Amino acid sequence: MPSEKPLDTLGEFIAAIDGIGELRRITQPVAARLELCEIADRVMKSSGGGEALLFEHVVRDDGSRSPYPAAINLFGSMRRMSLALGVEDLDDIAARITELLALQVPAGVLAKLSLLPRLLEVAKFPPRVHGGRPPAQEIVWRGDEIDLSALPIITCWPEDGGPYITLPMVISRDPVRGIRNVGMYRIQVLGPRTIAMHWQRHKVGAAHWREMAERGETMPVCIAIGADPASVYAASAPLPPTVDEFLFAGFLRRAPVRLAKAITCDLDVPADAEFVIEGYIDPREPLVTEGPFGDHTGFYSEADLYPAVHVTAVTMRRSPVYATTIVGRPPMEDFYLGHATERIFLPLLKLTVPEIVDMHMPAEGIFHNLVFVSIDKQYPGQAYKVMNALWGQGLMSLAKVLVVLDKDVNVRDPREAWWVALNNIDPERDARFTMGPVDVLDHSSRAFTYGSKLGLDATRKWPEEGFTRNWPKLITMDAATKSRVDALWPLLGLNGGR
Ligand SMILES: Cc1cc2nc3c(=O)[nH]c(=O)nc-3n(C[C@H](O)[C@H](O)[C@H](O)COP(=O)(O)O)c2cc1C
Repeated sequence: MPSEKPLDTLGEFIAAIDGIGELRRITQPVAARLELCEIADRVMKSSGGGEALLFEHVVRDDGSRSPYPAAINLFGSMRRMSLALGVEDLDDIAARITELLALQVPAGVLAKLSLLPRLLEVAKFPPRVHGGRPPAQEIVWRGDEIDLSALPIITCWPEDGGPYITLPMVISRDPVRGIRNVGMYRIQVLGPRTIAMHWQRHKVGAAHWREMAERGETMPVCIAIGADPASVYAASAPLPPTVDEFLFAGFLRRAPVRLAKAITCDLDVPADAEFVIEGYIDPREPLVTEGPFGDHTGFYSEADLYPAVHVTAVTMRRSPVYATTIVGRPPMEDFYLGHATERIFLPLLKLTVPEIVDMHMPAEGIFHNLVFVSIDKQYPGQAYKVMNALWGQGLMSLAKVLVVLDKDVNVRDPREAWWVALNNIDPERDARFTMGPVDVLDHSSRAFTYGSKLGLDATRKWPEEGFTRNWPKLITMDAATKSRVDALWPLLGLNGGR
């Protein structure tokens, strides 16, 4: 299934999804307000994540038809998420990263030379800026021509503050170090040329904005919608502020991302994007009310204050497709994007916390609420060491409940993980609370973005940890009986069981 040639555009991604039989075209008129969300929600809740949908006739709030089709749930299955990144299995990317991280320079000229192809592969990834008029700028709106309501931007849930761009790639630049960031932050449409940028305080885009605001400088910002699927995914990935997401996307797709100069901003944008919204934030202006928004917690997030972006240009391909998603009660499409992150970032976590064997963030835990980790326990107290390490790493610091298990537990199966964990814990002994930053979306914490965390040490306890009773053996059938029953099974007329 992995394509030989990387997918360069959203159109190629949609065609590839069609090619594996996972695309459904919807020709009936569907309202951008609520109806599209309700249809997508029902599809996303079906087993395996449902099909990708291409709405060809989206009805705008004024009753007219949007000139542009809207695609949703493009990343919403394991198969499509792998397709987006050009792999058979997401763990293939983790294996590539592990290999690169283990790159030790061997002795001897010939051996050194054998490393060259791998090193050159890395060198091929940086994004490249192309001259000329890129596809993303085939059509350009400026000034009064700009009308975001022409796009099929959806209002997801009944109590949302308005229509939202939900699958954007928000491009900004660190004013000090000059490093680019691409983040996926929802954007509320406030008017034909004004939008509100919901980058949460822990995110890199928000840090760039704080820096710019402190300097009193106007901040350029560009929003690309729909591009090569690796770049779209990369916008959602929790990379450190020092890593450019387009470089990372280049690594994932094994080919550089093509960029072009924005028309009214001093920023580069994906040359193959479907739409690009260019604009600026004026630090002298008051913040605007953003929200409420039906969020990926499954609850509404309250309205809050965020910066307004003034749109200076909208550029697009000649026949663009608008890419969107919805969030709400899990599972939704974002589970698959988050799952890719879980798999791809595992080797990086292992780099600093080497005893980690595997990890999993189940859909119900919406990423930050629940993290299962299995470890190769070698000494007493190691589960706590791992918890503390994870709570000290990037966005993992927002994890609310961390459950640490032994290496033989399959943490990717939440039923197995809970079964073993609940058997293994003496709650008073094995639970620890700590304090720290919590996710902006957490509505339960005592204060906004500040609260407690729970760590559960569900590993087998050692005598040094005060456990001197016998630890019971896991029940398993002996091999001889198993093979006798295997031979008998076809004669029994029973289903399954092999
Ligand atoms: C569909 C979707 C919507 C998201 N919406 C937001 C959002 O509105 N605000 C936000 O701060 N993060 C949001 N996120 C999470 C960020 O994209 C994620 O934390 C990413 O790592 C941020 O990039 P950064 O690390 O470069 O800041 C969303 C993620 C997805 C998949």
